[in-house]
Amino acid sequence: MALVKMKELLLDAEKRNYGVGAFSVANMEMVMGAIKAAEELDSPVILQVAQVRLPYSPLEIFAPMMVAAAEKAEVPIAVHFDHGTSYECIKESLDLGFTSVMIDASTKPIEENIKLTSQVVELAARYGATVEAEVGQLGMTEDGKGSAMAIYSDPLEVKELYEKARPDAIALSIGNAHGIYKEEPKLNFEVLRKSREAAGVPLVLHGGSGISDEDFKKCIEGGIRKINVATATFMAVEAAARKYSESEKRDYFNLSNMMVLGAYENIKKHILVFGSENKAN
Ligand code: 13P
Repeated sequence: MALVKMKELLLDAEKRNYGVGAFSVANMEMVMGAIKAAEELDSPVILQVAQVRLPYSPLEIFAPMMVAAAEKAEVPIAVHFDHGTSYECIKESLDLGFTSVMIDASTKPIEENIKLTSQVVELAARYGATVEAEVGQLGMTEDGKGSAMAIYSDPLEVKELYEKARPDAIALSIGNAHGIYKEEPKLNFEVLRKSREAAGVPLVLHGGSGISDEDFKKCIEGGIRKINVATATFMAVEAAARKYSESEKRDYFNLSNMMVLGAYENIKKHILVFGSENKAN
């Protein structure tokens, strides 16, 4: 029984100065690969699925699988609803047993963001679940749409949202973006520093795919406790399927094993960079 609240993981990461990987998953093979990596490295992890991915991974089918996998894992695992924009979907994920939700009202004016975040904080409290909010806008949305133009988080807005809505974690825009970076990302560590001073909560870095190991480590030093990785795992699983198509032994079960290993390798690599190995207890 290792399904835990995300807040517990982030507070331990704060205390012991490491980052927890929040790995986006879309099917059973990815869930199995993530848990295999976490168990092997004795690391806490967060399994997450974003609202825009639900056409591929329907919540009512996929959520019970994620929750069951977390419950039977030998390491602490939080199950998180990523980039929730609909109150109804967020509530459904909580009803299905997720221990954490994100309300992403970052495209709205700050007053509206605060109002929507407060509503979700109140809802999640009924389930004892953790809430992540976002201030500032990342280049590209989770599904590769949206504007490539990023708007940095304003530390004053971070402070205001934290004080008025009291989420458990806040995601920042500091030059990070979802998907593949067109050029090397240049993170603004000054925005991170000021945001950390402004709000006493664990901070979240989205757009982990393509960020250098060195920058990940600087982010963790600067107070980032949850790091989202999606595209790199999707690419690793797709590459594993391509490799399978060239292999001698072609049957469904070999394909399935190779996809599990594709996810596992990528997630393992990130856990080692984030410093969460041997932090399960
Ligand atoms: P990447 O797809 O860039 O890794 O971003 C993942 C993410 O931030 C999910 O919310």
